[in-house]
Amino acid sequence: MSKVNSRKDPSGRMDTDEDVSAKHLPQSVSDLPVKSGHRSLRGQVDENPCGIVLNAPRTRHPKVFIKTFGCQMNARDSELVAGMLIKKGYRLGESAEEADIVLFNTCSVRQKAEDKVWSEIGKIKTYCQFQNYKLQITNDKLKDKNKKQKISNSSPVIYHSNQTHNKKTIVGLIGCMAENYQKEAFKKSPLIDIVVGPNNIGSITNVLDDFLITRKRQVAVGRKQRREGVYNTEFISGKNHANVIIMEGCNNFCSYCIVPYVRGRERSRSADAIIEEIKGLVQKGIKEITLLGQNVNSYTAHSSGLRAHGRNKLAFTDLLKIVNEIEGLESFDFVTSHPKDANTKLFKTMAELPKCGKFLHLPVQSGSDRILKLMNRGYTRKHYIKLAKQAKEIIPKLRLTTDGMVGFPSETEKDFEDTFDLMKQVEFSAAYIFKYSSRPHTKAMQMPDDVLLEVKKERNRVLLNFQKQLHKRKNRG
Ligand code: 5AD
Ligand code: SF4
Repeated sequence: MSKVNSRKDPSGRMDTDEDVSAKHLPQSVSDLPVKSGHRSLRGQVDENPCGIVLNAPRTRHPKVFIKTFGCQMNARDSELVAGMLIKKGYRLGESAEEADIVLFNTCSVRQKAEDKVWSEIGKIKTYCQFQNYKLQITNDKLKDKNKKQKISNSSPVIYHSNQTHNKKTIVGLIGCMAENYQKEAFKKSPLIDIVVGPNNIGSITNVLDDFLITRKRQVAVGRKQRREGVYNTEFISGKNHANVIIMEGCNNFCSYCIVPYVRGRERSRSADAIIEEIKGLVQKGIKEITLLGQNVNSYTAHSSGLRAHGRNKLAFTDLLKIVNEIEGLESFDFVTSHPKDANTKLFKTMAELPKCGKFLHLPVQSGSDRILKLMNRGYTRKHYIKLAKQAKEIIPKLRLTTDGMVGFPSETEKDFEDTFDLMKQVEFSAAYIFKYSSRPHTKAMQMPDDVLLEVKKERNRVLLNFQKQLHKRKNRG
């Protein structure tokens, strides 16, 4: 098993939905900062964050705590946000209780994921009641606090004790739920002060500045794409492993999925920027990376190196080859792949590249052709089974994992049996099984959510149990 494959959560899933395959149960949420190992970070912060105020009486730089829900992409986004805030002079807190600002980086993929966030935000109330934080702010430009002023990235807000504001913990909703709810979020929870969508995280420091100055709730949503600069963060939470975003968004519009509506359309980062980022990470001691994207197989981008060779476009497999060449990098893998875009070329490339982890997460969702069509997945069960077989044949010791869904609208016992049968035929190394949950904006929302919860739970249990038994059997043999 490669080093990459041996990580705790190869598929990148971070939910503790009880649906998730018990054997490979991932971490529930990532709380940034991760307890220890930020020596360089803390050094950077403690030395002189704003360059001016360290000797001011009772100087205190606000502490931020970021609580992350959802996928690996969100974990990476939290690092990006942390990096931007640190640059501006904020410190990272160890817990929500001790923080001046708590940011919830959220997931909208299932209702349950959202419910968990609303419940966590509700808990913040306790801190507000018991701890009347004094967030101390003053700024050269802050002559008139009622006047909204933009503060550029180069001029950090400076915090000291000349002026004080009794203020509850500042609460921010960021990520997919921010995009989903926008200003409705304030109605859902009056505790929320700022709302920042996933494509707007680059403006997080300005949004916080604006809130601190005006004391008016702020919303930053709707941007189509991030600036490249947003990816250049100093912050990484791991010592050996790092996530690198190669593409974002999705054009597939699976009928159940909210992602294209909250994350936007597909766009790839330039290969040059990705390679530069990985080289920088390697210099910091990172040995393993995971390339991230909602649909990595449809990566296409330009590279200045390629233009010199008379080629224009770079495909995902080209990128894998270039990454494999990076000196000092020991291994890499990627999530998530879509079965309609995965092919033998990809499998051969994975098999050939020594640094490429022999791990493929290929969500099947359903084994019923009728349901796959309703889901708009763009492949049949026969195609998927063939693909899985090819992948296993071409890539020795492949660890093939999947996502499955039970209880999609109109799913019959026969449809479910087809999914069960596919899982028996393919024998995945791990399967993450979710109960269908109706999501806003999606096409499936128009369909009646007509499979009883009890039935969803039972089907979910059957598939997970099968996967558990399979795992036991494989471990024995
Ligand atoms: N209901 C249940 N599960 C969902 N997923 C995506 N959308 C939904 C939904 N509406 C699951 C899919 C996907 C994984 C990330 O989450 O299985 O692969
Ligand atoms: Fe959740 Fe957004 Fe990640 Fe999908 S892309 S799993 S909605 S955080």
